[in-house]
Amino acid sequence: MSNTSAISVKNVGVTFHSRDGAENKVLEGVDFDVQPGEFVSIVGQSGSGKTTLLKTISGLQQATHGEVLVNGKPIAEQVEDIAMVFQAPVLLPWRNNLNNVLLPLEFRGTRSKESLDRAYQLLEMAGLKGKETRYSYELSGGMQQRVAICRALVSNPQLLLMDEPFGALDAMTRDSMNFEIQKIWMREKCSVLFVTHSISEAVWLGDRVIIVGDRPGHIVADIKIDIPRPRAKEHRFSEVFSDYVAEIESFIGVTAGIS
Ligand SMILES: Nc1ncnc2c1ncn2[C@@H]1O[C@H](COP(=O)(O)OP(=O)(O)OP(=O)(O)O)[C@@H](O)[C@H]1O
Ligand SMILES: [Mg+2]
Repeated sequence: MSNTSAISVKNVGVTFHSRDGAENKVLEGVDFDVQPGEFVSIVGQSGSGKTTLLKTISGLQQATHGEVLVNGKPIAEQVEDIAMVFQAPVLLPWRNNLNNVLLPLEFRGTRSKESLDRAYQLLEMAGLKGKETRYSYELSGGMQQRVAICRALVSNPQLLLMDEPFGALDAMTRDSMNFEIQKIWMREKCSVLFVTHSISEAVWLGDRVIIVGDRPGHIVADIKIDIPRPRAKEHRFSEVFSDYVAEIESFIGVTAGIS
């Protein structure tokens, strides 16, 4: 087949077992595809299994049931094309910011003059020009997360998995990171799965918004966002935008039993 999905999640279930033998079914029957170049947002209550889902797609967590294919192949064969941004930045404290950004390229042995230029460019884009030789303990939490985002982007991943990457940022930085991530995504044409607690962020960035319900985590709705690109600030104030937000809020309210 010519048009292989970038991600194919097929009937995935994840169950954890505690030491006393109790079962915690976290995901069940999760089924969706992401097309190449698509930007898909994921929203859902805290504890509904969003991080577990991203980890399962990236291969960090094994599915108890079902399977995940990336570009039509099992995850183990694809690791190099995937980058993940975690909820917490996880930087190496003994490396300066530039060298944290360059880390994935060192692992692969592909550090070059071009990649060094790209690392500088990304740090500048993230508002960290002049902080290249600083260490993470010298940065605010939001700045550390921006370094982690640059680290994910430095290798031009085909697939970018982002787990609430902007959760720790102040509102203004978050807004500008939303614009930057849209710009980068439109330029790089990578596929993105983006978990957020902000419904308006999910709508503004996404081609689709997937809503995850809890106990066990499952897909409640998958909504196509029909707003033209590139999206501008004004789109947030349009009627169609607030209709999408209201629709998604109603799904999340229902799953939480507070409709
Ligand atoms: N490694 C693990 N072992 C056991 N239970 C786990 C593990 N990882 C996650 N869980 C459980 O799975 C459930 C879902 O967790 P997960 O982190 O995926 O939720 P989430 O939707 O990302 O929540 P949040 O929005 O707060 O980040 C929780 O009940 C959590 O306790
Ligand atoms: Mg999470």
